[in-house]
Amino acid sequence: MRRLRIAPKSLWRGYGHSAFLLLIAVAAFRSAGCDYRILAPANGSSSSAGIQVSISPKTATIAPAGSITLTASVTGFQHDSTVQWSIVGGTPGTLTTNGNTTLYVAPQTIAVSPVLVSVRARSNEDTTRYADAVITITKQPIDTTHKVALVLSPLSITLQAGQTQQFTATVTGNANTGVTWKLVSGLGSLSATGQYSAPSSLSQGSTAIVKATALADTTVSAQATVTLSVPDTMPCFTRDIQPIINSNCTMAGCHTSGGGEVRDLTTYAGIMGYVRSGNASSSRLYSVLSGSGENKMPPSGRTPLTSTQMNLIARWINDGALNNACPPDTSGGCDTTAVTYSGFVSGVISTNCLGCHSGSNPSGSINLSTYSGVQTVAKNGQLVGGLTGTPPNFLMPVTGTPLDACTIAKIRAWVNHGAQNN
Ligand code: HEC
Repeated sequence: MRRLRIAPKSLWRGYGHSAFLLLIAVAAFRSAGCDYRILAPANGSSSSAGIQVSISPKTATIAPAGSITLTASVTGFQHDSTVQWSIVGGTPGTLTTNGNTTLYVAPQTIAVSPVLVSVRARSNEDTTRYADAVITITKQPIDTTHKVALVLSPLSITLQAGQTQQFTATVTGNANTGVTWKLVSGLGSLSATGQYSAPSSLSQGSTAIVKATALADTTVSAQATVTLSVPDTMPCFTRDIQPIINSNCTMAGCHTSGGGEVRDLTTYAGIMGYVRSGNASSSRLYSVLSGSGENKMPPSGRTPLTSTQMNLIARWINDGALNNACPPDTSGGCDTTAVTYSGFVSGVISTNCLGCHSGSNPSGSINLSTYSGVQTVAKNGQLVGGLTGTPPNFLMPVTGTPLDACTIAKIRAWVNHGAQNN
């Protein structure tokens, strides 16, 4: 609150009425740029409504290295209509000022997009009065045909299974800054407030598109790309390679220790007899698996390996064909909730069991290549019985190492929840 500064009483005591009016006039004169309020003269002939500063345009959206001319106007001033320009709060850019007009130039590059910059015009006559223009610097292409502008952030992000990302949409040029959110394509889900959640599990990489549309003008929208990635871990022998070979090659009469002339593939050393480390295409293991005619393995009547399995073997050989165990699971414990057939069980069976339990003559007459085949042994107890080697069931897989405790626990949970085709 600005106050009239009253001269000490002693100063004007004894002066006449005209001297008192003179003091008022001096106070009025000195008020420029000071902390005084101008008292209206008794006759009310003039009064100050107070200084108002405004800037045009109030908001703008420009690209890095772009510029915008801002013009300030001051109303209600007594004698000085000029302003001082400044950039508020250490935000980037430069000003080239010419009186009440200034040219704001954005920095060449910005680390994150968008950056919001406030440019301030402050009255020289009353420095408590100012106005700010808010300038958005964005890497997004600027649509100059619309006054409403929308800046979406971030524009691209990479997430893994189970991760979330809050998107923000900043609408300028209209009082209604609301937006609607939509998941245009891809996996995952998007909340009404722009929170994207990646699916809880991912078997392969993909992309999702998130879109924000301005309520003020539904022709104004922006899209962001979510890259859903599966961590690219190097295949490891004990988890990824041995079970495939075990399942597809080591059944009785084939590549087992008692197999006679043919090489025993139940051990790393045996497998390496067919591998040229670092070179999958010249490794016999890979060429027979991808071959045709008589050289093809597994022999006709047996199910060929899937392309995913072939790619794993190729990568493992090209990475040096190491006898490596997998890094320990750091995800913390074994999550047996929400185990599904398509997301987990069928993959385990494909890796570990189908070499023997598929095709025209499956081992034990048990075909596990279809859901109904798996469902049958799940319901009659043979699946968990086999995996745990609980009599009367034989331990499965019959050769190699049993499945790890967590995998068995997850399959047991899926069976206990009804062995659904989910
Ligand atoms: C190397 C070949 C081979 C692999 C790999 C294999 N099995 Fe078997 N499985 C057999 C043979 C052979 C039998 C028949 C045993 C018998 O009855 O003499 C059998 C029988 C079974 C049975 C019938 C129950 C029993 O104890 O007789 C189930 C269930 C079964 N396997 C599940 C699996 C599952 C699940 C996997 C994968 C984790 C698997 N098997 C991997 C060869 C294999």
